[in-house]
Amino acid sequence: MQKRILVSVAVAVAAVVAGCSTYSSKPKYTTEQIMEQGFKGKESPAARVGRGEGTAADFKLLAELTASLPLNAPPKGDAASWKEKSTALAKAGKDLAAGKAGALDAWKAASNCKACHSAHKPD
Ligand code: HEC
Repeated sequence: MQKRILVSVAVAVAAVVAGCSTYSSKPKYTTEQIMEQGFKGKESPAARVGRGEGTAADFKLLAELTASLPLNAPPKGDAASWKEKSTALAKAGKDLAAGKAGALDAWKAASNCKACHSAHKPD
């Protein structure tokens, strides 16, 4: 009896794990969360990185947050433009965290607040 319970628990755990990997392309953060946690304000990780003062923890957080960005639908604007901008930002974040050469310049170009907001941020 006890053994049977254990087996069914194991099956349930396996199902949860499988479920997670099936849905791994679901965004972990909404665009609002990404902006609030990574970009908002003069002391945000994105602000520090943009000033060349980013820490390893900032890079890691921004890589983690921006990975969800291309998976979210743009709240406004053209889907192709969103895909291009959000993918460039996610890639730059990932490259920063990985310490790749040129990643900071790519990040500075891709994290242009105004360029993205004017196209994709609702008023
Ligand atoms: C690749 C596109 C993109 C870039 C780059 C970007 N943002 Fe955003 N941001 C958005 C979008 C889209 C929204 C609107 C989110 C919504 O309302 O769902 C937003 C919303 C915000 C908000 C409001 C969040 C809220 O609580 O509603 C803040 C603050 C913000 N961005 C700050 C910044 C700053 C500062 C930068 C530059 C350092 C920046 N963003 C760069 C796309 C971007």
